[in-house]
Amino acid sequence: MRPEAKANINLDALRHNLSRVKELAPGRRVVSVIKANAYGHGVIPVAKALGESDNFAVARLDEALYLYDSLQPKNIIILEGVYSEEDYLKCIELNLIPVIHCLEQFQWLQECLEYNSLGWHQIEYWLKIDTGMHRLGLSEDELEQIILSYQHLESEKISSYLPAVFISHFSCADEKVKTKDQKQIELFKHQIHRLSNLLDPSAVPKSMANSAAILSIPEAHYDWVRPGIMLYGVSPFETAVPSRNGLDEQLQPVMTLSSELIAIKKLKKGDCIGYGATWCCPEDMSIGVIAIGYGDGYPRHAEPGTPVLVSDKEVPLIGRVSMDMITVDLRTLEKNSVAFKIGDRVILWGDGLPIERVSQKSGTIAYELLCQITQRVRFEYE
Ligand SMILES: Cc1ncc(COP(=O)(O)O)c(C=O)c1O
Repeated sequence: MRPEAKANINLDALRHNLSRVKELAPGRRVVSVIKANAYGHGVIPVAKALGESDNFAVARLDEALYLYDSLQPKNIIILEGVYSEEDYLKCIELNLIPVIHCLEQFQWLQECLEYNSLGWHQIEYWLKIDTGMHRLGLSEDELEQIILSYQHLESEKISSYLPAVFISHFSCADEKVKTKDQKQIELFKHQIHRLSNLLDPSAVPKSMANSAAILSIPEAHYDWVRPGIMLYGVSPFETAVPSRNGLDEQLQPVMTLSSELIAIKKLKKGDCIGYGATWCCPEDMSIGVIAIGYGDGYPRHAEPGTPVLVSDKEVPLIGRVSMDMITVDLRTLEKNSVAFKIGDRVILWGDGLPIERVSQKSGTIAYELLCQITQRVRFEYE
């Protein structure tokens, strides 16, 4: 036996979740968001499995270049855009689609199209409007300046300068009480309408919906939807509605994280466990030691009581999470005569144990748990 932590990635579940997106947003085109190494699942196998997407999105140019070098998918959107004329040229050369979210990026784009020695005069880009997230995106005044620049162009140049898609991003689409979404939708429409002497606002392609909006705001589906977390089988509503998980949205978990039981100890009443001796046995009892810890990406802040599956039964985490190990209370298994032994596989999240239950007990969200799995974990794709 060689204990190891494993992440099994169920590619059929990933494909199922993509078809669920298409069922929820029929006829809309789908940009599968696979930034941050496909939310920790491994970007290349995930992109291959999501071949039925219309497009992929990553955050940064380097992620796009890696994906392009490995797979040459049709198009890749760069959500944070690029930051030099040289990088715009790279985008043109490889058909990468940058988002433009600030005036500086628009300026570099203009300079690149006017002065490049290769004679390239056109690039496909998406224009991001800030409707309330106040992170990336053009404000009303900044959009005004861009509209003025379009108006100063010679008429034959205008069409090559206009964005392919107008986008915006919701700040609170995952919340239970919907207060901001409608305002953002109205502002988005209003801003696009300001370009109406250059283009037909009803005809320009638009995109607003992340997973939460795909599931809860059909009005915002527009032409392109941009699912991220739901593709990986996780509910985007995990903080607003803690009892909900991906299965409630008819999604299937993609990553199952597991490891092995490496020790079973019989302890006496009053014995305290692990660093800080924070959890003490209330009676004589057995505990299990499992080969997983924060060195594998299991959350250091998981509280006592966080569920773990041993022999397909839920047992609670006890004591502190250390770098390579966690400890669990085995009393319920013993009381119910459930057999367990060293070498048994233990599930930390995934099949049979929604990751949302672990993130809630760890003061974080499933997005973070998925992204922080470390290189020590062996990935298997099935
Ligand atoms: C611009 C943009 N669109 C879509 C997404 C996907 O969001 P989610 O994973 O919540 O579906 C993200 C993720 O952060 C994003 O930044």
